[in-house]
Amino acid sequence: MDIEYSEHTQRLQQEAMRHILWSLGHYEDVERSGVKIIARGEGCYIFDADGRRYLDTFASLLTSIVGHHRPEVHEAMLAQMRQIEFYPIYHDCLTPVVIELAKRLAALAPGDLEVSFFVSDGSDATESAIKMARQYFWELGEKGRQKVLFRRNSYHGCSFGAMSATGLSWFREPQEPLNPGFVPVMAPNPYRCELGLGPEESARAALRNTEAVIKWEGPHTIAAMILDPIPGSNVGFPVPPDFYLPELKALCDRHGILTIYDEIQVGMGKTGRMFCCEHWGLVPHFLCLAKGFTGGFAPMGVVLTTPEIADVFRRPGHDFRHGHTFAGHPISAAATLAVLDILEKENLIENAARMGEHLGERLHGLYRHPIVGDVRGKGLLRAVELVADRETRQPLGSALGVGGFVRDYCYRNGTIVRNNGDILVLAPPLTITADLIDEIVETIEAGIVAAMRELNLP
Ligand SMILES: Cc1ncc(COP(=O)(O)O)c(C=O)c1O
Repeated sequence: MDIEYSEHTQRLQQEAMRHILWSLGHYEDVERSGVKIIARGEGCYIFDADGRRYLDTFASLLTSIVGHHRPEVHEAMLAQMRQIEFYPIYHDCLTPVVIELAKRLAALAPGDLEVSFFVSDGSDATESAIKMARQYFWELGEKGRQKVLFRRNSYHGCSFGAMSATGLSWFREPQEPLNPGFVPVMAPNPYRCELGLGPEESARAALRNTEAVIKWEGPHTIAAMILDPIPGSNVGFPVPPDFYLPELKALCDRHGILTIYDEIQVGMGKTGRMFCCEHWGLVPHFLCLAKGFTGGFAPMGVVLTTPEIADVFRRPGHDFRHGHTFAGHPISAAATLAVLDILEKENLIENAARMGEHLGERLHGLYRHPIVGDVRGKGLLRAVELVADRETRQPLGSALGVGGFVRDYCYRNGTIVRNNGDILVLAPPLTITADLIDEIVETIEAGIVAAMRELNLP
């Protein structure tokens, strides 16, 4: 890529290559175009070490929901630091800020999800929920209820438990065999159903498959089912038909299986509701949040659960046997409280709903290009899938690298766009405006046109 870097940046790039190994590093991209060194952020923009400005359409990996550089959040974190920088949630101790946050979350969360178990990040959230569900049954004497259902193509994190519940075979491969007792089921996919079915049939088949697996495994052996109400950016936010999630919840309830909703990507207002499950009026037994939970200002997540479940662990002589030292860090809790204030004061969830509609409409305009196969998503979580043939949905094939071409084009033109192969995924901050959305879609469109021209696509 023809970006000229200053000597200072080139030196940083060389040092990075020598001294850092980064997760899921795409070294072929790095060797071609240089490490991107992000030095500063402001609102919806980030700036590289040479001061070049980029519109961040993926909100720093779905985290910076209120935008970068919010002095209110800095002040809140600093105020907490002046009180005490850290004291753990452990044994019989807590900090006031963590209690305040738990109370605030109880008021916001749907149904009776009024107890918080604070964690360090997203993988810790899903791992904790899984362990809590298993230990819940163990505590109640149902020691055979240990299995966990998860859905193919899902992502729930990279620690061993979270990864065992992750349905991406390429991600699991190097660590197989993973934990026993994690059982995959079919996920509906309105555009790319694994059985080649249409949206409704795909969801019906997924429900039938889940029911059959529950029966075959034996309901009395299954503690929980984990799922993200709208699957994440790996598959480009395929929204299920409205009947699917309520029917799945009812199926699990009928068999006494606890439900874990992973809202690490899709929670915190991104879909136009504070929690994604609210679109269907559903309340799981565990709701996992991370990523945007602190607005990206510090790492932290939470598992929200019910008093009924928490009380099992709050009995004298009992405890939930899990917890990381830094879980529920007070400075992160102060950041989250400040982020919740901003969401409220600036009506950002309403903005996400309105801007999400605008983004969806603008992206629909991309159907004028034949390689645009599907435009989907909800709220500000949107995806555009590029294909060789819209009628047959034939993929372009990874060898062509069309998604990567569009991403690189956008980058050269000052816009960060995330791609998973030929699926372009967008999740801008909730502070995004209509003008910026227009700019994003125009840049992507120019990237698609350039790809069609330069890669000789029909
Ligand atoms: C849906 C979902 N669950 C869990 C995780 C894991 O979160 P973390 O990366 O903070 O461990 C992620 C991260 O991408 C995610 O998208």
